[in-house]
Amino acid sequence: MPDPITVRIDGQPVAVPAGSTVAVAVMLAGIACRRSVTGERRFPLCGMGICLECRVAINGNQHCRSCQILARPGMEVITDEL
Ligand code: FES
Repeated sequence: MPDPITVRIDGQPVAVPAGSTVAVAVMLAGIACRRSVTGERRFPLCGMGICLECRVAINGNQHCRSCQILARPGMEVITDEL
């Protein structure tokens, strides 16, 4: 198994296996990617870039599809969970 890497999700360090997507990192952190307009917690659904339920901010870029982006060391991910 590859060495883990660490990303920051909502300011907290999260270790994930190298090669994981950002969606996996968010799920391993046990938090939702975003909230619906009515405040419901939303999680990755399709895993292939279609549903947009996995959108997060990555390094200041809004609405990134976390299921389509590999986690990189030092990445800053912000969800709508807070
Ligand atoms: S999980 Fe559907 S677009 Fe990412």
